[in-house]
Amino acid sequence: MKRKSNLFGALLVSSLLFSSCSMMVKMMGMEDLMSAMENMDKMMARSASEKRSYVKSKQSAALATGEKLFNDPLTGEGTNGLSCNSCHPSGTSTGGEAQIPMREYKIPIPSLVGASSSFPKYKIPNDAVITLQQMNNNCMRMFMSGKGLDLNTPEAWSLETYVASLSNGETVQVGGMMSQSQ
Ligand code: HEC
Repeated sequence: MKRKSNLFGALLVSSLLFSSCSMMVKMMGMEDLMSAMENMDKMMARSASEKRSYVKSKQSAALATGEKLFNDPLTGEGTNGLSCNSCHPSGTSTGGEAQIPMREYKIPIPSLVGASSSFPKYKIPNDAVITLQQMNNNCMRMFMSGKGLDLNTPEAWSLETYVASLSNGETVQVGGMMSQSQ
């Protein structure tokens, strides 16, 4: 009898926990929706030209932050003094090769012009089809002795914006081959 009521209690507690967790999840989703709607309201209250200049200012702020991160050897907690720009100067390639850590071999450094328009694509170190943000992190880990950026944070989005902007006007070819020195 006692065991039965213990079991009943445990079931009650776990179902209460479960329902309060799922309520919290629902409320979190609701908050996201609320802030999305607030942002929509703010935008709709602007004139057409205000809308355009607001969007432009947000876009260029992300680009500027991204370019800074691209040139900073500390991005993603890099520790070997190299920045993205050391190997991909202004988004191109030095034309040289990069040493793979703890291995004998080196691999050619690609230009990043057109790179973003080939993502998501398969990459060997991940053995998976990955996004541009994940690829940027691959380089921080493999070639800057860093940790990489937390994915889906304003920093990772900004770096992605800068790297993606190097592909403006390039042909989109998801899964396309890397371009060598350019
Ligand atoms: C030591 C040189 C080196 C540094 C520093 C470096 N990279 Fe790379 N990068 C490479 C090499 C080599 C590859 C090819 C590796 C691969 O495809 O797995 C590459 C590939 C890439 C690619 C994929 C290109 C394609 O078409 O598939 C992107 C994007 C990229 N790097 C961005 C960055 C960013 C952003 C940084 C800085 C956070 C950075 N790289 C730092 C050497 C470097």
